Amino acid sequence: MSTTTNGTNARKSATAPIAVYHEHPDWFRPLFAELERRGLPYERLDAAAHAFDPAETALPYGLVFNRASPSAYLRGHAQSTFYTLHWLRHVERLGVPVVNGSGVYALELSKATQLDLLTELGLPFPRSRVINAPSEAVRAARALRYPVLVKANVGGSGAGITRYDSEDALAAAVAAGDVSLGVDGTALVQEAAPLRGGHITRVETLGGKYLYAIDVYPAVGSFDLCPADACQTTSGVELVRGACAVDAPRTGLRVEGTTPPAEIVAQVERIAQRAGLDVGGIEYLVDDRDGQHYFYDVNALSNFVADAPNVVGFDPWVKLVDYLEARSRSFAPDAPRSTLAPSDAWLSAERGASSALGAPV
Ligand SMILES: Nc1ncnc2c1ncn2[C@@H]1O[C@H](COP(=O)(O)OP(=O)(O)O)[C@@H](O)[C@H]1O
Ligand SMILES: [Mg+2]
Repeated sequence: MSTTTNGTNARKSATAPIAVYHEHPDWFRPLFAELERRGLPYERLDAAAHAFDPAETALPYGLVFNRASPSAYLRGHAQSTFYTLHWLRHVERLGVPVVNGSGVYALELSKATQLDLLTELGLPFPRSRVINAPSEAVRAARALRYPVLVKANVGGSGAGITRYDSEDALAAAVAAGDVSLGVDGTALVQEAAPLRGGHITRVETLGGKYLYAIDVYPAVGSFDLCPADACQTTSGVELVRGACAVDAPRTGLRVEGTTPPAEIVAQVERIAQRAGLDVGGIEYLVDDRDGQHYFYDVNALSNFVADAPNVVGFDPWVKLVDYLEARSRSFAPDAPRSTLAPSDAWLSAERGASSALGAPV
């Protein structure tokens, strides 16, 4: 009998589609193209208009790939931000494998919790305070060096980040009601570092391992560093932006491939593995004042750089789909369900009900 069962599982898992849960209309076009090229069945699920039955006991997917973005509220899709967390917990309860599940997504939703993770790993990040009222900002910044950034805890694409060069400027903004804390009423006050070389570095990981890295040169005055929006290499070569709307504005963002020092790559892999990040990018900067590196952003929704073969020499979408295929195939639909939460995610593994967002797991 067990042979028959295994055979049934193998057949089911070979045909069960990969569900790609997302709300951004353009970012995943290269993913769908690669899935189609291989003839892999997939289904797009709209994270901005979705419903589920908490009493259901099965889902018709071989894998769920979570591509919801914390910046959804910028596109009028704020409803997906916290709903996604609830749905992912439901999917995990049903035993369907999830790429970037609820624990990782909760980490992505909290820059404050990302800094806690870095603290636990003993890794450097810009000095910061976390506040839940604008009236706390000036006092919080007194423990830091100006200039400071006030960053919404739920970030994404540079949204909700403002720089203040002095206490007077910050106090005036607070008095004018101009300091807003974002969708969860929480913000970081963080030292703004002068960027050595004028760039930050974004290191992409897949399955907890280094994939590639790019230096990203922000457009002047911009905090939006979405690499899929980049339009030029540093040598001025125009990039094909396959994940952008055709009429997307040219952002002035410039990128180039790089290889970080081995020590930093090892630290990035530790972050990714501790976080249970299946695919994602970790950003760091080198502070021009002391020459040290500081991590400041852990992204589960990693958009690969535009025109990657031109920038990093290979197509990361191919490797990503290799990974999805492997995860999907290893799914046995009739395997026993053992957990309510993913066992590999930092937020749920050891912290249980005290995890991010204060919500019971
Ligand atoms: N502490 C900092 N010092 C200097 N620049 C920063 C700092 N933190 C963020 N930035 C700049 O702002 C951009 C967006 O910040 P980040 O924390 O990554 O937010 P998001 O989640 O929106 O990507 C960074 O890529 C970097 O260019
Ligand atoms: Mg970032």
